[in-house]
Amino acid sequence: MAILLIGSGGREHALAYALAGSPYCRCLFTAPGNPGTAAFGRNRPDLDVADHAAVTAFCRQEGVGLVVIGPEVPLVAGLVDDLRAAGIRAFGPTRAAAQLEGSKGFTKDLCAEYGIPTAAFARFREVEPALAYLRERGVPIVVKADGLAAGKGVVVADTLREAEAAVRTMLSEPGAEIVVEECLFGEEASFFALCDGTRAVPIGTAQDHKRVFDGDRGPNTGGMGAYSPATVLTPEIERTVMETIIAPTLQGMRERGNPFTGILYAGLMLTADGPKLIEYNTRFGDPEAQVLMPRLTSDLVPALVAACDGDVSGVEVGFDPHRAALTVVMAAAGYPGTVVRGSEIRGLDNVIDDEVIVFLAGTRAENGRLLADGGRVLAVTALGASILEAQARAYAAISRIDWPEGFCRRDIGYRAVAREVAGDGI
Ligand code: AMP
Ligand code: GLY
Repeated sequence: MAILLIGSGGREHALAYALAGSPYCRCLFTAPGNPGTAAFGRNRPDLDVADHAAVTAFCRQEGVGLVVIGPEVPLVAGLVDDLRAAGIRAFGPTRAAAQLEGSKGFTKDLCAEYGIPTAAFARFREVEPALAYLRERGVPIVVKADGLAAGKGVVVADTLREAEAAVRTMLSEPGAEIVVEECLFGEEASFFALCDGTRAVPIGTAQDHKRVFDGDRGPNTGGMGAYSPATVLTPEIERTVMETIIAPTLQGMRERGNPFTGILYAGLMLTADGPKLIEYNTRFGDPEAQVLMPRLTSDLVPALVAACDGDVSGVEVGFDPHRAALTVVMAAAGYPGTVVRGSEIRGLDNVIDDEVIVFLAGTRAENGRLLADGGRVLAVTALGASILEAQARAYAAISRIDWPEGFCRRDIGYRAVAREVAGDGI
């Protein structure tokens, strides 16, 4: 079948790699795409993905049998609703179901109603009641903007002053809403479930590194690196997550008349009281997809089709249990703030082999040269028999990439590596 992939990041390069590798994929289009996705099919930068009628017309014209949507913005904008209404198979949640990512308040209310473990919270539209709540609860405390903020709308405040400033800033926008919640302690991990509206099958685990600098310091980013599997998530914890978090979420969404189809990405805190939900995303993560896709041993296309068609019960999602993957994001200097675009990246051909893949994110090709064209630019991904081995390979590859204007964290995977050194690996 013809497949249309929506997006232009490193995640979409990784998805293109998995989709185009399927015998079911006759041809792949990516809109808008990037130089990485161009290697697996045809990019369509001319197709405006915000124009749902144009996307529908394109699918009809090309006989597209499956649309896969990478980022959250088109999901929240209802692209899946419009494609489905036109009889086109689209993988991902409807606009209403994407509220699980698009509105933190919506998700927290669902958690409260269905007893899903999460941080204690309250929602506010007014400054004064929010400040009163902060003072009553004390610090540390977490203040979150309600809507999509690309991972940057969260302040974990250690002082009341910081928390108060966050409340005032976030509520200064007209119509803004915030969630103020208890600070959870533990290790974070990401759990992915493939959902058909009723049932779910696990589709991998990973650990992201959100802060920009080594040792988890500095501002939050979209993600500076990741590895899979998240060895801290034992099979027993995975079962608990499926039972206490994923299953009641699907039930709640169904009962509210908005069944959830697509990828439910649970950001978890593994607390002393068990796994708790920090947030949901309703798509594959970026850069988590860059470590999940290379480990996949089963075909992604029939799995996504089964979810769209409403029955994942027969889907086997296979990962090689003896293969770990680790990705290090190389970002342009200044990220997550303002970055300079246009510097040249050289030497990628020397690093790619059976164990190393460089997924391209914010890049553009110009006259045969590869230029940086965004904040996160490369996801240098390596496989290995352990996370330590994958880590060593990824950093060896980075040392051979010639891009002085880029930077990366030097410690991606440190928690898992420490566990492996202590004898607790994959
Ligand atoms: P979110 O956008 O909700 O994933 O939040 C971004 C980051 O803020 C998370 O990855 C956590 O590191 C942190 N965070 C969010 N909520 C909490 C919480 N309740 N307790 C502790 N840390 C949190
Ligand atoms: N890496 C975090 C995300 O994709 O939301």
